[in-house]
Amino acid sequence: MVGSVLLERMHAEDDFAGIEPVFFSTSQAGQAAPDVGHGASTLLDANDPAAFAGLDVVLTCQGGSWTKAMYPAIRASGWRGHWIDAASALRMADDAVIVLDPLNRAAIDAAYRAGTTTWAGGNCTVSLMLLGLGALFQAGWVEWMTSMTYQAASGAGAKNMRELVAQMRTVGDEAASLLDDPATAALTLDRQVSASLRGTTLPTAHFGAPLAGSVLPWIDSLMPDGATREEWKGHVEANKILGLSPEVPVDGVCVRVGAMRSHAQAVTVKLTRDVPLDEIEARIAQSTPWTSVVANDKAASLAELTPVAVSGTLNIPVGRLRKLRMGPEFLTAFTVGDQLLWGAAEPLRRMLRIVREHAGA
Ligand code: HSE
Repeated sequence: MVGSVLLERMHAEDDFAGIEPVFFSTSQAGQAAPDVGHGASTLLDANDPAAFAGLDVVLTCQGGSWTKAMYPAIRASGWRGHWIDAASALRMADDAVIVLDPLNRAAIDAAYRAGTTTWAGGNCTVSLMLLGLGALFQAGWVEWMTSMTYQAASGAGAKNMRELVAQMRTVGDEAASLLDDPATAALTLDRQVSASLRGTTLPTAHFGAPLAGSVLPWIDSLMPDGATREEWKGHVEANKILGLSPEVPVDGVCVRVGAMRSHAQAVTVKLTRDVPLDEIEARIAQSTPWTSVVANDKAASLAELTPVAVSGTLNIPVGRLRKLRMGPEFLTAFTVGDQLLWGAAEPLRRMLRIVREHAGA
């Protein structure tokens, strides 16, 4: 799915002009490759390290298992090109940079000049949080941050998106006659919906539980300190991307919700001092061309600050900005962004452009 979005974006930005792309598959080698304007070709075998020989860049959204198996094998075959990867497998390696160039272009450029050739896209939630609020870290205003996430089905994969919609259909179908009768009491409707959600007709093979009409307060595996791996990534990846030293604590609770492809997050920031709200808003609004501040009112929040509003766009709105009653150093905000675009595909295609810029290609 990330690969499909990546291809769409690369077409839209004319990224295939001036390069000679070849396509690989783990399961369909020999079949027709996508024609991206360079004529017909066949898929090469992604499980054959020798097939990568001579390539300048490998750009992969294949996933962590493939990266873990093939990255060492391809490097061991003597391949020295640039590896650009959506998976988390290499992100925390000392010789890899997590790419989010609107925030860390200078670090990317310095690493490139120093010989780095391994580039990983960040965790979607981390990249989206930083595009919204990274400017506050860069200003030195963040003592710590908590992020409470509302993560879309797409983050769990294409099959999960289908399962969410299938769950919605089951609930809707089974409640249809009650819903059609305007006299049905809300509690009667609720009993039917609960029966569907707890019954045997609801598909749950991929999420392991009903997501439609519910939320799932668990994403990824358990870490030793009781955090989930998704929550752990918030700290380690945000600090690595921004090169923060000393580290700034980032922690929270990651939750799956019934949105399709855009992740939202509510954050609380303990500021290092009482920075006025207008300065904070100005810093956020200027931080990247895609980041905007949404007025803290109902109409703007409902129109601009939801998964529905941003899905399919590169927009990163930040709203609900205010100081909390805990004191003037406590800030809250809500931000949302498309999990498949800035959360996955966009940093990778931009990194390919950066490699080409450096190489003069
Ligand atoms: N792990 C994320 C999620 C998506 O489950 O939403 C990939 O970064």
